[in-house]
Amino acid sequence: MTAMLALADVEVRYGRLVALRGLSLEVGQGEIVCLIGPNGAGKSTTMAAIAGGVARVAGSIRFEGTELPARKPERIARLGLSLVPEGRHVFGTLTVEENLRIGGYMRPNARESAAALERVAGYFPKLKERWRAPAGRLSGGEQQMLSIGRALMTNPRLVMVDEPSLGLAPLIVDTVYEILLELREREGLTLLINEQSSHRILRFADRIYVIRNGAIQLHGTADELRDGEAIKAAYFGFGASVAQAGAPSGAAA
Ligand SMILES: Nc1ncnc2c1ncn2[C@@H]1O[C@H](COP(=O)(O)OP(=O)(O)OP(=O)(O)O)[C@@H](O)[C@H]1O
Ligand SMILES: [Mg+2]
Repeated sequence: MTAMLALADVEVRYGRLVALRGLSLEVGQGEIVCLIGPNGAGKSTTMAAIAGGVARVAGSIRFEGTELPARKPERIARLGLSLVPEGRHVFGTLTVEENLRIGGYMRPNARESAAALERVAGYFPKLKERWRAPAGRLSGGEQQMLSIGRALMTNPRLVMVDEPSLGLAPLIVDTVYEILLELREREGLTLLINEQSSHRILRFADRIYVIRNGAIQLHGTADELRDGEAIKAAYFGFGASVAQAGAPSGAAA
């Protein structure tokens, strides 16, 4: 199987700081893959590198067999890749509908744009209820949905979601994940999701990569990693034996 998205030996530096040091990962068509890791591990940088938002990237990033151009976010979006950034970034004074229309700016005509809006409304009935409300008045969960809805407006085949659960109540997070699952089931949407915790991911992801210090420490299917011990060890950076001997059952793993 050739992966839909394949990163090989990717290195990113911010000045003297090495944020990604030889990172490799793959996402297959229709998969839900999760990248989990602590603060500063390089999760957002990985997505930024894919989306064309990083100045210099060494190594290879291929989408459907094609090497992605560096620093060309718009061209990359046109290839069918969409990013839902960390912290949502909706335009607070614009309405829900206007925010979505901005997401669909690449739509060539009004009919397609209307169809894309209809589709988003179908997946997010809560947003439909607030169609004319300024986005700044939405709850955090609704803003997350809006941010995902906006990413869907370009009709992507692969969507990257950076920490969808950040700052949201568990019940809302479940709703967000259920909608992502539905998108995969009904449309075959491929998903790469960043999270700080493996807790929910083990339920929703097909495969998991653990990133720490700019490199992948561990990867496997959710089934293989189900008991969480290996994830914990990779996440905190200590050996499995230490993990078994009473590792901190921290917030993360
Ligand atoms: N624009 C930037 N300029 C300089 N350093 C940066 C920049 N963005 C990230 N970094 C640094 O790169 C490293 C990786 O950061 P990144 O944001 O990718 O981590 P993360 O895994 O997404 O963390 P978090 O869970 O906090 O979102 C960190 O050391 C961070 O401080
Ligand atoms: Mg981040």
